[in-house]
Amino acid sequence: QQKDLAPTPPMGWMTWNFFADNIHEKDIREMADAMVALGMVEAGYNYIFIDDGWQGGRDNRNNMIPDPAKFPSGIKALADYVHSKGMKLGIYSDAAPLTCAGYTASLGFEEQDAKTFASWGIDYLKYDYCHAPKDSATAVARYTKMGEALRKSGREIVYGVCEWGQLKPWHWAAEAGGQLWRTTYDVRDKWKNLGDQENAEGIIDILDINADLHAYAGPGRWNDADMLVVGLYGKPGPSGDMGGVGMTDTEYQSQMSLWSIMASPLIATNDVRNMNEATRRILLNKEVIAVNQDPLGKQAERKINDGTWNVFVKALENGDYAVAILNRADKTQNYSIDWSALGLGGRYEVRDLWEHKTAGKGKGWKGRVQSHETKLFRLRKI
Ligand code: DGJ
Repeated sequence: QQKDLAPTPPMGWMTWNFFADNIHEKDIREMADAMVALGMVEAGYNYIFIDDGWQGGRDNRNNMIPDPAKFPSGIKALADYVHSKGMKLGIYSDAAPLTCAGYTASLGFEEQDAKTFASWGIDYLKYDYCHAPKDSATAVARYTKMGEALRKSGREIVYGVCEWGQLKPWHWAAEAGGQLWRTTYDVRDKWKNLGDQENAEGIIDILDINADLHAYAGPGRWNDADMLVVGLYGKPGPSGDMGGVGMTDTEYQSQMSLWSIMASPLIATNDVRNMNEATRRILLNKEVIAVNQDPLGKQAERKINDGTWNVFVKALENGDYAVAILNRADKTQNYSIDWSALGLGGRYEVRDLWEHKTAGKGKGWKGRVQSHETKLFRLRKI
């Protein structure tokens, strides 16, 4: 496991929620262009992650090839293009003969595929676990095999384990070579799964799994709470129906706050070419991103969880603390808190990272929090 490969949580944009497997190199180039033009790359979103659906099988030497209709110029050319923009390129495979969407995958070809990815200039591999046996021994063996193959590939390739948390990868994925691991089933563009979808999660469902895993996170080892659905508004695009009903901007802002304080990778999936102002404001808030990317690499601890209120604390490198206050109730309410309830003694100046202004000074805070809103503060000792 190479910790220096992902010293802070990876950031970027991933194809899946918007395109599913209806991907094309032209769209990906356009996304890269838009990410540069709109300041996403400058803000830290420097990866483009190609998810499932790029594969076109194997050639007569068993080398993996891209689908020639989707990637007529090949992946190497796309990697060169992305690199020329100061960005990095991620790709996807699966620890079985076939991927989730039924494309060619890497089981039995780990070394060969890792070398192919390296020769194309790939910087990141998301390695999925569909069609593979659900036991830890097999998962550890298969993920270790690819981890070693990547290490021997001749290129530094970040390794994202995508087993969805069922086999508790926080216990073994780092040793298998991974710098991050998904902790849950797939995120959907909704606040909560109301039992209407199997193996799919709303924001709150993911939160309740990922929040308790803070002890396992650190530089080079991240709990991956899955993609940001900010800005999808229930209209994923060519991916068809991903089962999301859409959320309000308040709820999208909550996802950004919570994923940031939990030090999850920040992986946008909206159509960057057509972002509205609200989405831009949420994804590009540099003070919020700084909480996520803080070099100390702590995942916040959930100190209060009473059914309605969730309060998170994350220690930051310069001695400040990030604090998130989530109102889970379906109504707007007042809240008041003494920082001592979080174990923070003394007086603090509170900066509201969404309002970009001071929200008071002293031993605590009180104010109104909208339904499903998350306040995100930075506390500086005074
Ligand atoms: C399951 C993963 O959890 C998703 O993020 C996505 O990669 C799909 N597989 C692709 O088939």
